[in-house]
Amino acid sequence: MKKITKAVIPAAGFGTRFLPVTKSVCKEMLPIVDKPTLQYIVEEAVAAGIEDILVITGRNKKILEDFFDYTPELDALLEQDGKSDFLKISREMENLVNMYFVRQKHPTGFADAVMYARAFTGDEPFAILLGDDIIYTDENTKPGIAQLVDCYYDTGKPAVAVMEVPDADIPKYANIRGEEIGERRYAIDKIVEKPAVKDKFSNNAVIGRYVVESDIYDIIRNTPPSPKGEVYFTDALQYLASQGRLMGCRFEGKRYDAGNKLEFLEANVEYALRDKELGAPFKDYLLELAAKLK
Ligand code: G1P
Repeated sequence: MKKITKAVIPAAGFGTRFLPVTKSVCKEMLPIVDKPTLQYIVEEAVAAGIEDILVITGRNKKILEDFFDYTPELDALLEQDGKSDFLKISREMENLVNMYFVRQKHPTGFADAVMYARAFTGDEPFAILLGDDIIYTDENTKPGIAQLVDCYYDTGKPAVAVMEVPDADIPKYANIRGEEIGERRYAIDKIVEKPAVKDKFSNNAVIGRYVVESDIYDIIRNTPPSPKGEVYFTDALQYLASQGRLMGCRFEGKRYDAGNKLEFLEANVEYALRDKELGAPFKDYLLELAAKLK
């Protein structure tokens, strides 16, 4: 089986849920503590053995390319001032991984964005990571996407990440039906994009991590658009499910929806609490605040 060394990150969305900041700053650059959300996604991919990453961007997203570029003026200054810790942070992204960027011409959805990856992936299987989903794993747990890659290596079938959600959240996610066939694994036979609660198959929702093979491009091309006019990536996955070729992986780790203001704030608080330097004083502050709020 071919090794998975390539990943695709669709990042062409407008980030309307975060207006007004997203008028001029793209949502992938919004920080959790001091790193942009995109950096967490890239680090997760790299920790899973990914060597090449294609980011599907759009107009007004040049800032994403700049972030992964060399910053000679800044680095020279940091070097001159002997600020080696900051210099290390500044250079962290430069050599981490090979980054590629392509612009989606019209922001017409996830499936269309994936089509832009065809020349990049060729006939290799690849990972897809959606930028709004941040998955925290501790040092004893494999990164989220690595858990899916393992599932692909074990079963030889494309895989999606799944997570149990309460009924109220069913309409936010793709929803699956599948037999649990092993620890944390489901053989999916049905998958549907954002059903109403009454139409759910289960409480297993799809979170933005996928491993697919290169036949996905022809499958997307042959998938009819939804009534809204957009070809859903989920409908392409339904084709795989109907062929008995789609796995669900109930990943270990804590997932944050960084596209949702409340969860974005929660992520900031929890990542700050895990931070070596900030953790202790920030916890004291929160405890004091919580006492006042009571
Ligand atoms: C997208 C996908 C959906 C998936 C979700 C995971 O929706 O279309 O199938 O469950 O990501 O976060 P979006 O959040 O972009 O509306």
